[in-house]
Amino acid sequence: MSRVVVFDETGTPEVLHIVDEPVPTPGAGEVRLRIEAVGINRLDQMVRTGMSPRPIRLPHARLGVEATGTIDALGAGVQRWAVGDPVIVTAVPDMDTNGTYAEHLVLPVDRIIARPAGLDATGAAALWVAYSTAYGALVEKAAMRPGDHVLITAASSAVGLAAIQIANQIGAIPLAVTRHTAKKDTLLAAGATAVIVTDHDDVVEATHRLTDGAGADIILDSVMGPGLAELASAATPFSGTLITVGWLDPGPAPFPAAPITMIRYMSFEHTLDPAAVHRIAAFLNAGIRTGALQPTIDTVFPLDDIVAAHHHLEAGKHIGKIVVTI
Ligand SMILES: NC(=O)c1ccc[n+]([C@@H]2O[C@H](COP(=O)([O-])OP(=O)(O)OC[C@H]3O[C@@H](n4cnc5c(N)ncnc54)[C@H](OP(=O)(O)O)[C@@H]3O)[C@@H](O)[C@H]2O)c1
Repeated sequence: MSRVVVFDETGTPEVLHIVDEPVPTPGAGEVRLRIEAVGINRLDQMVRTGMSPRPIRLPHARLGVEATGTIDALGAGVQRWAVGDPVIVTAVPDMDTNGTYAEHLVLPVDRIIARPAGLDATGAAALWVAYSTAYGALVEKAAMRPGDHVLITAASSAVGLAAIQIANQIGAIPLAVTRHTAKKDTLLAAGATAVIVTDHDDVVEATHRLTDGAGADIILDSVMGPGLAELASAATPFSGTLITVGWLDPGPAPFPAAPITMIRYMSFEHTLDPAAVHRIAAFLNAGIRTGALQPTIDTVFPLDDIVAAHHHLEAGKHIGKIVVTI
């Protein structure tokens, strides 16, 4: 049997419970993974609470878009992979029916990549979603270049910390935004050139001060909400880009008047495209090999503590990724 986390109704973390199900069999062109560790994402909370961007199937819905494990069975026609290969899951567009919070997972072969050398299971579970999102947004969409000033909101999130490292790897200048002074030193140690604390700094004024009045070339925003229009005025007029990847503040977001390029980014744009996955994996492998990229792990929970892991996510005091081992 295989242990799987499911929920029958949306709500608090307590709706999550573990059931035993038959171990799934891979079909043609599929592999079965023995999952070792799962990355917890904000999307999981949204789906669990009924804020999913798309309808989900209830009862018995599953959760999770991120995992690493080893291949333990091959479907017919699969040749490139062998039983025992350590891999990372690259996309789960159907998490309510095939979520990663499970002992076993069956996927098409084009939804896995080899686990980068130098990462253990915990680190590998913390890699893909955050780094593919930050890379896809900054490099593929916003065309980040060396010397660019990149303003990163929610910088202590897994996506934010990945963006800081990727900006440094490219030679750009990451300016981190947090709401809390207590996180400033951690963000500087993580590679931020400067940290703007919204408790007492004005983000627009601070950005202009840190960029000699030019403004940020790129703003990577996970917050949106009512502050979006003002945030947009921290970007360089005409040539600046504001790219939003999240909506941590659920309040209405006014459309900015600032004359800049605005992009709304979903990482599925790239993680469901094999050619883009190849580029992302090559970039991440190079960064891990040189030490420029290193996932930040906040806390590791065992699967039996999945409810506590979701409470920890909701408390919002974490820095980096919450990982669950299976
Ligand atoms: N577009 C995509 O494809 C994609 C993929 C993955 C993730 N995302 C999005 O990226 C964002 C970050 O995700 P994550 O899983 O890395 O981290 P996360 O756990 O969602 O981020 C936690 C951090 O965000 C900041 N934060 C939380 N609520 C906030 C609010 N109302 N206003 C301002 N800041 C707030 C806090 O940092 P401070 O306390 O330091 O302010 C907190 O520590 C989420 O919005 C997620 O949905 C998008």
